[in-house]
Amino acid sequence: MREIQHCWVLNHYASDKLRGTELRLVKRPVPQLSKGQVLVKTLILSLDPSNRIWLSEEEDYLPQLQIGDVMRGLIIGQVEQSCHPDFNVGDYVHALLGWQEYAVVDGDTLTSMNGAIRFTPHPEIPLDAYVSALGLTGWTAYVGLKEIGQLNPSDNLMVSGAAGATGLMACQLGKVMDARVVGIAGGEEKCHWLEANLGIDGSIDYKTTDNLSESMARAFPDGIDVFFDNVGGTMLDAALENMAIGGRIVVSGSISQYQKLGDRSQLYGVQNTHLMVTRRLRMEGYLILDYLDQIDKILPEMEQWLLDKKIQYKNTEVIGLQNAQKALPRLFSGQNTGKLIIKIE
Ligand SMILES: NC(=O)c1ccc[n+]([C@@H]2O[C@H](COP(=O)([O-])OP(=O)(O)OC[C@H]3O[C@@H](n4cnc5c(N)ncnc54)[C@H](OP(=O)(O)O)[C@@H]3O)[C@@H](O)[C@H]2O)c1
Repeated sequence: MREIQHCWVLNHYASDKLRGTELRLVKRPVPQLSKGQVLVKTLILSLDPSNRIWLSEEEDYLPQLQIGDVMRGLIIGQVEQSCHPDFNVGDYVHALLGWQEYAVVDGDTLTSMNGAIRFTPHPEIPLDAYVSALGLTGWTAYVGLKEIGQLNPSDNLMVSGAAGATGLMACQLGKVMDARVVGIAGGEEKCHWLEANLGIDGSIDYKTTDNLSESMARAFPDGIDVFFDNVGGTMLDAALENMAIGGRIVVSGSISQYQKLGDRSQLYGVQNTHLMVTRRLRMEGYLILDYLDQIDKILPEMEQWLLDKKIQYKNTEVIGLQNAQKALPRLFSGQNTGKLIIKIE
């Protein structure tokens, strides 16, 4: 075990587009273990749009990071030392342990109640899959469609941010659940990939369409039963105009707005909420962290779908913790397809 480790700490809050100076890479000692604690070595760091929220001073569901704090982030790690009776060296965990090489934590906090999951990777599935298809973004798609969207077979499902980590899982799970699926993504290449590789029924390239609402109307002549929304803003407004009566809008996120956090005058104001009444719509936001106690049941089902090739995963991999800050803006520029991860060397 190393005595000194690298960590990214908060340097200043973000107020608009990321500048690449919000975080600072520092060296810190790896703390010694006390009774009840475990030492977790970070193997994979997940870069997520929520990182941008945590870098701002906006109200969030987690405590505000302070200057000098280690940047919050979801990791897959492995227990390297344990002074806790329930943890063995070699155990794998998903946890919000931050942008650092090692974390010393109380074993009692590594529970689903505290946003952590202990898991045993299936011997035939690469560990990488557990940060995307079989990780938080995959679970978000599963819970969003099943619990929030109440997706039925043959429903018309539209997914925004469809070529991103959560979106591509919502598209694939929609197909597994026998829905008719149309994804929205930026660019011909991504749209082609969604149709050719994921086998979805159609796609809309939001970057080239003149009128998003009309494109949706052409793709959904009978209206949209479930809209799985990762993007928000104008996309949500256009979707509202095309929802079927009794439709459900699953608010997974609103990535189009995150870079504007810090200047409220830049945030987009949705115009079509009156249609929620006339069309009898339900719109519901949710946080996957509230559903972690269900993962024991969800994960084996999803692992089997992956083994049966009913679903696939796609990660964009960046090597080295030192490259994490430089990689983060790629989430907002649409530069990558699938899940953006940092492999710790
Ligand atoms: N509710 C939860 O518990 C939960 C959990 C995880 C994630 N989420 C949410 O899920 C959403 C997607 O997260 P992710 O991890 O899948 O991110 P991701 O892999 O970065 O995918 C996001 C996609 O959004 C698209 N995008 C970015 N900015 C956009 C804009 N201004 N307008 C339209 N599209 C834009 C990009 O693709 P294009 O090239 O197509 O633009 C990108 O591929 C986020 O809103 C996130 O907050 C929610």
